[in-house]
Amino acid sequence: MNAEGFAQVQARHLMQCWSAQKGYDPIPVAETRGCWIHTTDGRRIFDLRSAHECINLGFNHPEVLAAMRAQMEKVVYVTDDFATQPTAALAQRLAHLAPGGPDKKVFFSQSGAAAVEAAIKGARLYQYNRVFKSGPAGVEIDAPGQYPFPYKIISRYRSWHGSSAGAASASGDPRRWFQEPFTVPGVVFAPDAHAYRSAFGTGAAAVQANLDYVEYLIEQEGGSNKVAAVLVEPVVGSNGIIPPPPGYFEGLRRICDAWDLLLIADETMTGMGRTGRMFAIEHYGIEPDIIVLGKALGVYCPLAATIFSEKVSRSFDDHIFGHGQSFSGHALGCAAAVASLDVLHSDGFLERVRRDGEYLGERLRELATRHPSVGDVRGLGMFWTLELVKDRATKEPLRRATEKYTPTVVSEISRFLLQERQIYVPSDKFGIWVVPPLIVTRAEIDFLVEAIDAALELSDAAIRPPAV
Ligand SMILES: Cc1ncc(COP(=O)(O)O)c(C=O)c1O
Repeated sequence: MNAEGFAQVQARHLMQCWSAQKGYDPIPVAETRGCWIHTTDGRRIFDLRSAHECINLGFNHPEVLAAMRAQMEKVVYVTDDFATQPTAALAQRLAHLAPGGPDKKVFFSQSGAAAVEAAIKGARLYQYNRVFKSGPAGVEIDAPGQYPFPYKIISRYRSWHGSSAGAASASGDPRRWFQEPFTVPGVVFAPDAHAYRSAFGTGAAAVQANLDYVEYLIEQEGGSNKVAAVLVEPVVGSNGIIPPPPGYFEGLRRICDAWDLLLIADETMTGMGRTGRMFAIEHYGIEPDIIVLGKALGVYCPLAATIFSEKVSRSFDDHIFGHGQSFSGHALGCAAAVASLDVLHSDGFLERVRRDGEYLGERLRELATRHPSVGDVRGLGMFWTLELVKDRATKEPLRRATEKYTPTVVSEISRFLLQERQIYVPSDKFGIWVVPPLIVTRAEIDFLVEAIDAALELSDAAIRPPAV
């Protein structure tokens, strides 16, 4: 099959994610290297979304590939009735690395959505055990008035936790609408923690008002008798790259403790160094009860993890963890993940991500001073966005959530970057994503910023009042 041939075959037979299929026109790839995708017609395209945030280490990282090759010669997969060196090593390293005591336990799956499902089910089973089985192991205790048991999950509108039924139902993103009306019950949405678009104003008083509302909501939903957990992305990803305002996570942790709720940090997108720390939650100095990892965890292998704190893990010492999956703890994926942790921990790697991330942020802020269509620049590490608006004063968005699947000038920007500047960055609802592989160089950052500068002429032109 020649190159054009396989692209056409793929277009005919592959169901593309989140798209009407007519017009699907994949670009045939010859090979990938570092931050770049080389096409069969000789183009070199920079991947500014790091392959949906999966390849934090860039494509074809030699140490990861070497670890995968070596592992493939030994064991690719056995069930968890057997132990393998990489599976044990990865579980131990994640248990020790994640904030909190080291006696955590890890459940491995293959996608962020599956790891979120495990987190939600784990949280509900933990609460069931807490309410009904808090006596000696296996002894049911009567808990009148508490039927059925704490099961509700508090999420937020600006969130995406995956496309399986439970994870989509716990997501506010418009992609949830494809699940409706058959959403999984038991999800309640709290306000977003979004300094640029807060319903509560700005500053510390706004954060407190937001937290007060969360607490009111928990009480109205039945408090510790009914609510199991709060599920949040430490830095919101798909819904606009939104770092939380100062004080928000400390407050959320206090609320969860006061009401016996578990705090679940979904780090599918933000984990593995993306924000300049191994886990984004480390920026906020709190310990979640459950952490979800996916995407970049397995680097080139589909691998995800649900990390249960000591407190939650202990709940399953004598009570069944009623969850499971074929391929859990896949040795090949775990070997890739262990190699990736070695790279992320190598001398100065994350320090450089933080330093170059600040440089990237400064360059993007500079762009905002010259382009009126940029309403907000925010992010940290190698995780940035330029939010585009029609009017800086009113903050009216250039593209609304309901226009996610409608072509607008925001999608035109993606087309321009790909066609004119050889930069791949799928169109986003709120603006332009700047999420390069962590190995991006300063010269590549300058190249990206110069291209975005040119692309912003399109959004500026779209909001310019017509000449009279
Ligand atoms: C925060 C978050 N959680 C979960 C998911 C779902 O991951 P996956 O697509 O691997 O199921 C995503 C995907 O974008 C995500 O960003």
